[in-house]
Amino acid sequence: MPKLISILNGPNLNLLGKRQPEIYGSETLADVEKACANLASELGLKAELHQSNYEGGLVELIHTARETSAGIIINPAAYTHTSVAILDALNAFEGPVIEVHISNVHKRESFRHNSYVSLRADGVIAGLGTEGYLLALRRMKTLVG
Ligand code: DQA
Repeated sequence: MPKLISILNGPNLNLLGKRQPEIYGSETLADVEKACANLASELGLKAELHQSNYEGGLVELIHTARETSAGIIINPAAYTHTSVAILDALNAFEGPVIEVHISNVHKRESFRHNSYVSLRADGVIAGLGTEGYLLALRRMKTLVG
């Protein structure tokens, strides 16, 4: 059975492709899901993508991943910069965690420069567009085997 990687996405990422395309690009979350599923199967992994607009929803997705997944790739979106609850949930997850941001958060407003999730993440990708998810998946293969 291929190892499962959970790809979790936070608020407003359901609007990917329509929301500020000059910052986040024109690909939709469904496009990202398809590309990740294809690459995962090439790598001998299985990828499942989820999105929630709610902090508690993301906490519950992380709890589910504790039972099901070898690794987590997470774009917590705005909760990156505010959520101790998501950090705590990730601290209760035993496998590798990779944080992804589509935009280069360090080039943007200063409130986006802090990430609670980075205190837990094994690696961080920012500013590489939606390709960041695929690069994270390749790294995951190295980490989970
Ligand atoms: C984001 C960056 C966050 O600052 C922002 O709130 C998002 C998306 C990104 O992928 O670039 O919603 O995580």
